[in-house]
Amino acid sequence: MRLGVLVSGRGSNLAALLSAAGSGRLPRAEIAVVVSNNPGVPALEVAFRAGVASHVVDHRLFGGNRLAHEAAILAILGGAGCEALILAGYRRLLAGPLLEAFPERILNVHPSLLPAFPGLHAPAQAIRAGAKVSGCTVHFVDAGLDSGPIVGQRAVAIEPWDTEQTLSDRILEQEHEALVEAVDWLTCGRLIVEQGRVRIVPRSEGMPPP
Ligand code: GRF
Repeated sequence: MRLGVLVSGRGSNLAALLSAAGSGRLPRAEIAVVVSNNPGVPALEVAFRAGVASHVVDHRLFGGNRLAHEAAILAILGGAGCEALILAGYRRLLAGPLLEAFPERILNVHPSLLPAFPGLHAPAQAIRAGAKVSGCTVHFVDAGLDSGPIVGQRAVAIEPWDTEQTLSDRILEQEHEALVEAVDWLTCGRLIVEQGRVRIVPRSEGMPPP
């Protein structure tokens, strides 16, 4: 399955996907193209070093027209033959064209146990709330903010001495694992959405190995 990956910044989740693909952990996934809404970000360098085509579609050049911005991204994804989309640290809500083009085919990774703490600075939100456990969530994307059927989650204990940075760092390690696992499930045809909930079918019911 050819994948497009949308990024906005550092690109550590993209790097985790590329490394998993390179080491055979994603036998049915091919990362076809990377698109960033921000020019000059490290994620573009990550793509370049891996030899993956990358593009910048700067939302600031679209004068607030989110539909036109997404349509431009969609044209690139279509040109690259993408069949699914991974949001790996992509910091924009989807407006419509991408959701319509990839129904139940867009995954996002978020640094909290959703539905708790959606939005920005989720680890800081968890610390402020006095939560003892947080973590990360991989979910299908809908038009809402960090909403959509949950695919996988990993828990991370919050220690009394945690800062936003220390907690984010530990959660990020789990994000990389959870995202790779979810992308494997997706590309092997093992994710089924039933009444808004995701069922992970046994490997034997997914696609046979290539
Ligand atoms: C991750 O914490 C992700 O969950 C959030 O933004 C961060 C992106 O990190 N949406 P990276 O760009 O993948 O390193």
